[in-house]
Amino acid sequence: MVPELTIVVPTFNERENVRPLVALLEKALHGHRWEVVFVDDDSPDGTAREVRAVAREKPDVRVIHRIGRRGLAGACIEGILSSVAPIVAVMDGDLQHDETILPRMLEMMQADDNLDLVIASRNVEGGSSGSGLSRLRKWGSDTATGIARRLLRITATDPMSGFFMVRRESFNSVVVGLQKRGFKILADMLSASGGRWKVAEVPYVFRARQFGESKMDSAVALEFLGLLLVRATGGMVSIRFVMFMLVGLSGLVVNLIVLRLALGVMPDRFALSQTIAVVVAMTTNFMLNNALTYKDRTLRGWQFLRGLFSFYGVCSIGAVANVGVATAVYAVLPFWALAGFAGALVGALWNFVASALVTWKS
Ligand code: GDD
Ligand code: MN
Repeated sequence: MVPELTIVVPTFNERENVRPLVALLEKALHGHRWEVVFVDDDSPDGTAREVRAVAREKPDVRVIHRIGRRGLAGACIEGILSSVAPIVAVMDGDLQHDETILPRMLEMMQADDNLDLVIASRNVEGGSSGSGLSRLRKWGSDTATGIARRLLRITATDPMSGFFMVRRESFNSVVVGLQKRGFKILADMLSASGGRWKVAEVPYVFRARQFGESKMDSAVALEFLGLLLVRATGGMVSIRFVMFMLVGLSGLVVNLIVLRLALGVMPDRFALSQTIAVVVAMTTNFMLNNALTYKDRTLRGWQFLRGLFSFYGVCSIGAVANVGVATAVYAVLPFWALAGFAGALVGALWNFVASALVTWKS
């Protein structure tokens, strides 16, 4: 029997939440034809195994077990695409989203064929972030919401929500342009729909987490910045490219700081100072790119060392060019910052192309 509703639940290390969530869904959606699809990125805690165990008892439970991939938005997209239901919901797997409003959201969708999307919102009358967010997170969420609404011209009150219901046909019309790397698929979808969607909102109170921990971190905030830049350029560049450039910028700062420090110690040795600065910046660039830009294929253990040395290897040409350019500029115009900047820029561009081809090749 085809379900009326598929609930897509992205998971990473949520093993203890699987059974309680399925039980809550069964209770909330009693009388409806529904299914739940867990999209798990090979969680080390064995979430996918737990879902399979539950699925053997309950035919309404499915799992998509992804290997070698990470990313909340991508997981949601894959889960939605795997469904044959006309209406699909996305909700977190950690019990923070109030499942009791699902029937109301579904009824709204079924009552109005023109309705594309129903957002479970913390920011309309009756909703709130409750005890679910720390004060810092609440501030971050509000700030991001403000920026997204202004920059992406979104009118919905909670574009950062990870809890919504969408008509499958409407989703199909925007899916090609969505960023799989991001954390905020709803904001991306709303932006991609270009204000043409009919959107409704239902209030809910964000609950506190009981088991496991949040995966929201500074990398996620950076990715959101990336998403804004991607949308600002009309989707011409990818989040990965933006992240690479942001890391490159941080490398430039490191390069300049180390150069300045080194020149403080040995004012006459410009080339040597810049060489040291380049090696330090190369190392921090590798570590940041490995942790953030290539979060989905982070190199660890021996792979990390091999990656670092391949990064040094491919970038040594860039480093030579960097020092060469910087020294040449410095000989003509003895401003350390200008010379350092010119060298670092050439080096950064080289690093971008070469490391994508060699160090983190999939
Ligand atoms: N498959 C997969 N891959 N799932 C992931 C990944 C990933 O890389 N990262 C996180 N998840 C899953 C988590 O296991 C959880 O079920 C859900 O995505 C949300 O992650 P949390 O780490 O719990 O995020 P949060 O509580 O800080 O924030 C969530 O709720 C907010 C309010 O709705 C997110 O959904 C935010 O986008 C949202 O603003
Ligand atoms: Mn959560």
